Amino acid sequence: MQTKPRYAVFGHPIAHSRSPEIHLAFALQEQVHISYDKILLPIEGFSQGVAAEIQAGLQGANVTVPFKLDACEFADELSVRAQLAGAVNTLVVRDDGSVYGDNSDGLGLMNDIEKQYGVSLQDLSVLVVGAGGAVRGILQPLLERNPKAVSVANRTVSKAQELAHILDIEALSLQDASLRQFDIIINGTSSGLSDQAPDLALAAFEQCQLAYDMVYGAKPTAFMDLARQGGAKQAADGLGMLVGQAAVSYQWWRGFQPQTESVLQSLRASLC
Ligand code: ATR
Repeated sequence: MQTKPRYAVFGHPIAHSRSPEIHLAFALQEQVHISYDKILLPIEGFSQGVAAEIQAGLQGANVTVPFKLDACEFADELSVRAQLAGAVNTLVVRDDGSVYGDNSDGLGLMNDIEKQYGVSLQDLSVLVVGAGGAVRGILQPLLERNPKAVSVANRTVSKAQELAHILDIEALSLQDASLRQFDIIINGTSSGLSDQAPDLALAAFEQCQLAYDMVYGAKPTAFMDLARQGGAKQAADGLGMLVGQAAVSYQWWRGFQPQTESVLQSLRASLC
């Protein structure tokens, strides 16, 4: 009997992950049987755990918090994207057993912004709020879309300056960003996890076509509420990014490009 191709997501914690249902829905579209497990690894046991799964036949994996940096070190080769992000969220096991590390987070976000929200990033001004790991993961794919300008603003401005220096973009304090206008504002801070929004003035959203929060939940996030109050035309959460990054990973593993819309709809319905 032929065994099913095996994939997994590694994290700690991992019980909350929606990745299995997303990837199994993609496999249905491709009309193949795969397995996709959630695997909880001990904080200090990433390399050992992943190596054992690869030995047992794993063909690819997603990697989530807190292992994205460990995955960078584990991979035999890294994409430029992953090197710039300093983080790997996708491992591809090649036929020769070597492991390629890449990062689909930024591409997933860009695809969601363009396909779901109909916004072409080219020639628009973009403010990215935050300067942690989540933001590092998206900046290179964002710059590849050729926006007119990209600025990064952070509560601790020195961290925004460090990132901006690497990528040759503008760094701002939240106060300075509040005095400016942007076509797109992306919230890449973790403020939403504590039901807060970064301290931006309402006026910053007046000309905003799309305010995008990279986190998601059953209800609109505090950042989305702030953006709507400030006059943003559209406000989005990061559920589409979650499905989008999964679709890119799936394509890297299997060469099949899944449709995201129906998967996103059923995931959204299950959150309510
Ligand atoms: P992640 O991997 O989710 O990016 P991180 O690397 O710890 O997590 O970074 C968290 C980011 O969210 C930082 O930019 C942080 O700002 P500081 O550098 O000033 O700490 C930002 N952040 C978290 N809570 C915030 C809040 N309530 N308001 C504004 N920014 C916040």
